[in-house]
Amino acid sequence: MKKFFKINKTIKPFKKVIKVEGDKSLSIRWVLLASLSQKKSIAYNLLKSEDVLSALDCIKKLGSKVKFIKNRCEVKGTGFKYKIKKNLILNAGNSGTLGRLILGLLINQNKKIKLIGDKSLSKRDFSRVINPLKKFGAKFESKKNKLPLVIKGLESPKSINYIENRGSAQVKSSVIFAALKTNGTSTIKAKPSRSHSELLLKYLKVPIKVKRINNYDLIKVKGINKIQNLNYKIPGDISSCAFFIVLTVLSKNSELLIKNININPSRTGIIEILKKMGASIKMMNKKNYKGEKIADIRVKSSKNLKAINCPTNLNSSAIDEFLVIFLVAAKAKGISVFKNLSELNHKESPRLIWGSKILKLMGIKNEITNSSIKIYGNSTISVKKNIIIKNYLKDHRIFMMCTIAALTFGGRWEISDVNSVKTSFPSFLKILKNIDYNFNKFSRK
Ligand code: S3P
Repeated sequence: MKKFFKINKTIKPFKKVIKVEGDKSLSIRWVLLASLSQKKSIAYNLLKSEDVLSALDCIKKLGSKVKFIKNRCEVKGTGFKYKIKKNLILNAGNSGTLGRLILGLLINQNKKIKLIGDKSLSKRDFSRVINPLKKFGAKFESKKNKLPLVIKGLESPKSINYIENRGSAQVKSSVIFAALKTNGTSTIKAKPSRSHSELLLKYLKVPIKVKRINNYDLIKVKGINKIQNLNYKIPGDISSCAFFIVLTVLSKNSELLIKNININPSRTGIIEILKKMGASIKMMNKKNYKGEKIADIRVKSSKNLKAINCPTNLNSSAIDEFLVIFLVAAKAKGISVFKNLSELNHKESPRLIWGSKILKLMGIKNEITNSSIKIYGNSTISVKKNIIIKNYLKDHRIFMMCTIAALTFGGRWEISDVNSVKTSFPSFLKILKNIDYNFNKFSRK
């Protein structure tokens, strides 16, 4: 039997200070990089979500030792060669980032390793990493480039030149990680995407150079055979923060301060987009931390939201936030247009299709193609219907989008698979309860 989460009231005005959990991209990268060092690495505030726990499980199977002491996670890695047992199976769970990045790190292992994932991940395309990793010399067995797949790396992978044209940080990072394990220098020309891998490797003094030339990042990575340990305090995740930014923007007379968020410019597209739409958002107390940028984000309710013709150069830096950006467009005056977003249909669920479907269920007119959506905004709209959301491949961001929609547009919602939040943001509902004490009275499983 499916459990449905019900919401039938909008949220009351609030003024609060909150924290969200550690950044998912940085947490997974920390786990993988820590596995490469023979010395102990320590992380504070590592995101304890299912995706990150899957990453820890994978590195344990590859020979790393993992220990949690309250908010502190310690990893003692194996060094550049993992200890591979016969018939090893790694499970990436729901995580495309883990599945794709770990394949890069397996490039120098010449035993067969099987990679599996859950139902959602098994529908996603792996040719995007299989193709470049084959250039390094790896061999693959798979059906239609999907999971489950088998990788067999080689003792001495060759360095490569590669052009990454999707603006995918997962592909770029997988290639960079594989390049570390070669004897030469690899060159990757990549459409800009989140830059955490490059920044962490620079901080670790790995020979990596990045130059922005004509809207591409030219990345040169030299192979190495060992790496320092990485001690790191993981800042809050802007992709989790996004749900609360939009909750505040769309609520009446409300204000929120969200502390200690990673504001790497390759991640702050949502702030730029919402500001262009008239939202009141400020980044305060900016700090640098080990190559990354961190700030507190202050957001207030916004009365006069206007539609946007969203500049496509912001797509990659807001890629995980479009579902909630669409909610803002639904309440903005005018017609908003978002283009070149075919990648959204390659996420944990086909999100462009789902975004459109959910808006339609709410009574918000919109038109989609394979790669774009046009949303007819209505600043006075409130939803009065019954809305049931199910069979969405347990996509955590769909669940959270619907919760925010219910709390700001109204309607009587029943959303299945509440546990999907555990993928990226286990404390999502607890934070909502902290914002509105009545939340548990109008929501139940
Ligand atoms: C991620 C990159 C993005 C993003 C994903 C996390 C990462 O995917 O959607 O949630 O940590 O590298 P793509 O790189 O495939 O766009």
